[in-house]
Amino acid sequence: MLNFIFLKWLWIAAFVLGSVLIATPFAQAAEVDPYVSRYLQVTEPVSLPLNQQGESRLFTAEDLSEGKRLFGENCKSCHVGGATLPNPIVSLSLEDLKGATPPRNTIQGLVEFQREPLTYDGKILDLGVVLSQSAG
Ligand code: HEC
Repeated sequence: MLNFIFLKWLWIAAFVLGSVLIATPFAQAAEVDPYVSRYLQVTEPVSLPLNQQGESRLFTAEDLSEGKRLFGENCKSCHVGGATLPNPIVSLSLEDLKGATPPRNTIQGLVEFQREPLTYDGKILDLGVVLSQSAG
């Protein structure tokens, strides 16, 4: 069950990042991925933390399905199963996201990280290093 919650979170992250950053209007109404309905058992919208002030937002099964798709297309190559292949110390587990500086365990935290990626301890991230690590 923990794993399912984790996947749900990852797909939301990808969904939010996809809609905020890639900003492609979704061509057709998203359909519910069978994995989302059968295994995550999401039929009603789920609430996820929006910011550190304790606000939250509801996400539908369609949102999760779109997130799963976006995650598969854009993130899975480096983050398969929620790991981070180029840097295994910094996974996408909620625990790791929470421990980052600043924390990344809210929607806002994830969006800020994608807009301006910082190292786990909050320093400017050298993307050249990240790319050379992932190429190797
Ligand atoms: C080219 C490989 C690559 C791709 C593709 C990639 N990432 Fe990452 N990601 C990384 C690396 C490497 C880190 C760790 C950076 C560091 O050293 O702090 C990271 C870190 C993260 C973190 C912070 C994790 C933490 O515990 O603080 C998040 C969140 C994240 N990525 C989300 C995504 C999402 C969502 C996508 C798809 C839209 C994506 N990434 C695509 C390589 C990648």
